[in-house]
Amino acid sequence: MKINVFETKEELYRAVADFYIKAINEKPNMVLGLATGTTPIPLYQNLIKAYQDKLVSFKDITTFNLDEYIGLPKTHKESYFSFMRNQLFNHVDINLDNTHIPSGVLEPNEAIKEFQTALDDHQVDIQLLGLGSNGHIGFNEPGTSFDSTTHKTQLALSTIQDNSRMFDSIDEVPTESITMGIKDIMRASKIVMIATGAQKADAVYKMIKGQVDESLPASILQKHDDVVIFLDKDAASLLK
Ligand code: F6R
Repeated sequence: MKINVFETKEELYRAVADFYIKAINEKPNMVLGLATGTTPIPLYQNLIKAYQDKLVSFKDITTFNLDEYIGLPKTHKESYFSFMRNQLFNHVDINLDNTHIPSGVLEPNEAIKEFQTALDDHQVDIQLLGLGSNGHIGFNEPGTSFDSTTHKTQLALSTIQDNSRMFDSIDEVPTESITMGIKDIMRASKIVMIATGAQKADAVYKMIKGQVDESLPASILQKHDDVVIFLDKDAASLLK
């Protein structure tokens, strides 16, 4: 694991954006695994700016998102389908036909099969991950098998509480999702993990220093041979 710690979030996101711009320019048709949530938003903003400044193009990029809530219509502002369009896809030159997000509206088994079939046909070059405060990656909650592929999952209560800030009330947060599995995530050639804020410090510590155990899904990343972790000083505060 290569660990980078930054004094400020601005420096962190500048560094991650530069990393992506360089990688995409070296391989313009790369396959990117993408994430939603609060963590990647400043990265996407930096990438949109870089696109506007003609420093990068997404026209030959293919993407696979980690997950989607079950039951929200695509048009719901908190569906990950809407999120990706609003935060990135609508602002760059990506071909939407080459973007893949699990369907939260199809019958789940059908949605899983559709997503897994497309994913299995590709090699993800760089998988972006955020970190749940309980150590989840994607929506692979504590206890998920390290051998899991795309599946339907119940969100942990802590995840529902964490994500309720996006919804009018906690009752509106979906309780189920479809997520790429841990085995799928580990198949990516490279993994980029970003974590910021003191509320992630405990999970960051266990991910890096703890035992590799299904009770802390992100600990599996210790077994991947090309992981780059970007932390701000609050998220890194327990590491010393
Ligand atoms: C999002 C995802 C989740 C988030 C995690 C952190 O696609 O798969 O694992 O990365 O819940 O969320 P934020 O960034 O909102 O703290």
